[in-house]
Amino acid sequence: MTFHLVVLWLHVLGAIVWVGGLMYQAHVLLPAARRGSAGLFADAARRGRPIAWTAIALVVLTGFYNVTRLGPVERVMESGTGLVLAAKFILVLAAVALAGQRDFAQLPRLARALAAREDPARALGAIAWLDRAVLLLAVVIVYLGLAISRAG
Ligand code: HEM
Repeated sequence: MTFHLVVLWLHVLGAIVWVGGLMYQAHVLLPAARRGSAGLFADAARRGRPIAWTAIALVVLTGFYNVTRLGPVERVMESGTGLVLAAKFILVLAAVALAGQRDFAQLPRLARALAAREDPARALGAIAWLDRAVLLLAVVIVYLGLAISRAG
């Protein structure tokens, strides 16, 4: 019971750190970057990257442990929880793929544009769209997580 609770706590903490950090970047730092502080944003986003990916790893690993605590497979499937879990898993995969595109393709593109003194607007625009998409998915993922934990 206590171990399960600690793992669930880490799961939720990881989600808060990932989504909270992204929310702050997308809605506070990014608008400032588009008004001229792109260098500051690029630096902050680069520093935030290891934190975000540690949180993502934590959420996914603890998520798999949570699955083992849901009870017998037959009951999970019959109750419909299996379907909700599958939907959540697909959305998590999509969110992680988009976050990877942002952090490992668009952020380096932004850094290259800044180093070459080119206009960073296109890279910032792509990051803004990816952030919105990940945040939208995260809102649904959190709802599905709550639905799963309260289904039994
Ligand atoms: C592969 C990835 C993931 C898996 C397999 C997974 C699995 C689970 C499972 C099985 C539960 C129910 C736990 C229980 O009731 O004992 C749960 C709860 C939850 N998950 Fe996930 N999860 C994953 C990723 C995520 C992500 C990325 C987020 C948020 C961005 C998230 C947010 C939540 C929340 C908010 C809960 C409800 C906690 C509560 O009981 O109050 N999960 N997850």
